[in-house]
Amino acid sequence: MTNKDLSNRPVSDLDEKGAKRELARLAMELAFHDKSYHQDDSPQISDADYDKLRVRNEEIEARFPHLVRADSPSKRVGAAPSEKFEKYQHQMPMLSLANAFSDEDMADFIGRVRRFLGLDLEDKVVLTGEPKIDGLSASLRYEKGRLVVGATRGDGTTGENITRNIKMVPDIPKQLEGDGWPDVVEVRGEVYMGKADFLALNKRQLEEGKAPFANPRNAAAGSLRQLDPSVTRSRPLRFFAYGWGEMTSYPFGTQYEALQMFKQWGFTINPLTKKLADIEAVLVHYQGLESRRASLDYDIDGVVYKVDRLDWQQRLGQISRSPRWAIALKFPAEKAQTILKAVEFQVGRTGALTPVASLEPVTVGGVVVQNATLHNKDEIERLGVKVGDTVLIQRAGDVIPQILGFVENLRPEDAETIVFPDHCPVCGSLAMRDGDDVVIRCTGGLVCSAQRSERLRHFVSRDAFDIEGLGERQIKEFFEKKLVENPADIFTLERRNSDLKIEEMKGWGPLSANNLFNAINLRRKISLDRFLYALGIRHVGQTTAKTLARAWRTLEALRAVLEQGDKEKAQAELETLDGIGPKVSSALVGFFSEDHNVQVVDDLLKEVEVEEADAPVTESPVAGKTIVFTGSLEKMSRPEAKARAESLGAKVSGSVSSKTDIVVAGPGAGSKLKKANELGIRTMDEDEWLNLLSGMEIN
Ligand code: IVH
Repeated sequence: MTNKDLSNRPVSDLDEKGAKRELARLAMELAFHDKSYHQDDSPQISDADYDKLRVRNEEIEARFPHLVRADSPSKRVGAAPSEKFEKYQHQMPMLSLANAFSDEDMADFIGRVRRFLGLDLEDKVVLTGEPKIDGLSASLRYEKGRLVVGATRGDGTTGENITRNIKMVPDIPKQLEGDGWPDVVEVRGEVYMGKADFLALNKRQLEEGKAPFANPRNAAAGSLRQLDPSVTRSRPLRFFAYGWGEMTSYPFGTQYEALQMFKQWGFTINPLTKKLADIEAVLVHYQGLESRRASLDYDIDGVVYKVDRLDWQQRLGQISRSPRWAIALKFPAEKAQTILKAVEFQVGRTGALTPVASLEPVTVGGVVVQNATLHNKDEIERLGVKVGDTVLIQRAGDVIPQILGFVENLRPEDAETIVFPDHCPVCGSLAMRDGDDVVIRCTGGLVCSAQRSERLRHFVSRDAFDIEGLGERQIKEFFEKKLVENPADIFTLERRNSDLKIEEMKGWGPLSANNLFNAINLRRKISLDRFLYALGIRHVGQTTAKTLARAWRTLEALRAVLEQGDKEKAQAELETLDGIGPKVSSALVGFFSEDHNVQVVDDLLKEVEVEEADAPVTESPVAGKTIVFTGSLEKMSRPEAKARAESLGAKVSGSVSSKTDIVVAGPGAGSKLKKANELGIRTMDEDEWLNLLSGMEIN
């Protein structure tokens, strides 16, 4: 069974093994999306799809609590801080919010609060409802009324110190106004950019030849996390205060009073905040905000409801990383109608043909949309759309909008059926399905110039070789002029330059050419995971590349497995690793079994040195320990247990000796267990073993 089959399977149908696989996949995917969103300010999926992954992860964990992983996404808030700024340790963690998606979820929330507090029927749970601002949260520390630190949330425990930039946000007082503020107070809230300001900024970016931002949230994040604060100053950032961290005294007793006090201290609080006495009032407030959403000058993606009384907040406390006293009731994605003008087929790095709809431009949630993805052939058939149709589109969060359907009675007579090409629009090679894959691919491989140039673009991208001054535009130019056709060609540019004379090309000069060569030379040493990721092998993303690098540490060792001749054996060895399934293993082995790929790699290795990866983790309770499994295991298979232990830095051995640290014995254990007892080696059953691992997970 493939991972893909499992990802569509209802949680209630998963068996233990499947659940474990799904949790591994979700951990990997969510870690990738967290990084894309929080560190790179470049989300790859819609917020709604992201939420779905999270909810699925939580549902599986609820059914199989003993399978909760050390790196479970439910234990993380956001992503670890990026390396650009100094780290800042929050005195009190910056929490995240649990999500609700329906009226029932909201009623359940109130029910949970009532039960937890043991309230009587006549006790009212008053809530404050605040728009959930789609920006990024910041914590502002004031000592004796003076702003001393501004920090991002980071992973909730450690953020980035962005004090100099925070001071550039006009809504944020550098000195608190009025009086009555505690000696030390951390005011928390959201830094955001208005929709009109965002559109104006993007216009400016385009005029200056710079990349536009995907949405106001990304623009705010990108503007706030600038190394040069004067750039931040030139960006129209704003701030709403809605919470607090450390405080030396509590001058207020409710959430609502806190907000009023923040206002007196000089902060802006959201004017649409309301105090609500019951679920009916909550739902009216929610609907009111939803209907006003499009006309607001800033993006909101839901409403945050908080138990108003602080003494109750205190009693309710938190679970995992979110408070029991607050919840975010999310809005459904924003929609709009427009005309589908044409469909274009783009060819990606792996040959996938993606149908992209060009639309009559329309504004959805403050952003002008003119393209939407149709995903693949099946999706076009499922939707039944034709060119000329009036289509319903949805901008779910941040990524390319999707087409949801069309309006039947507005279909013009001359609406044209969308014909999916059976040949590649770029190289003319046959385009077909690969097995039961929904994607139709150009079979041209490296013959196809679209695939070749997309691979090169990927090769130099930020998470791969990341060569400064060699972006999408330059690589396209070099490719079209046939100066760079393979990755290795990048590294021979300087040597060939006496013929090429890049400095004489339009837009280049001696200085920029020289800078480029220097930047290229800086990348002649590269980490193994980046190298693997840069090769652009199907299904090998950053996480998989890291897993491989951690497990084999050198390219030689990994290649010895991949190129051993026996493909099945090679795949089986790869699949002992957590997160590597048959799809990935066959893509890897397949890639290294093709001569032209091996040639590309070998040519490249003449130019670059791949560094050895760091030794495995040393922070787990089993790191460096030698473990022996004996008897039968009931909760996981032997290879899984071995892979798990190894991924936590343990060595798994087949026989017991004085060097053994732990023997995990299941039913049927015999001589090995006996020997362990004789040698005084620590023994445990499978449950204890899992507890040991999960003990580490909790700490
Ligand atoms: S309270 C203790 N209130 O939503 C809970 N968060 O999903 C901490 N957000 O990190 C958050 N508007 O970036 C809170 N009125 C509001 C908010 C809000 C937006 C964001 C914030 C937070 C995220 C949690």
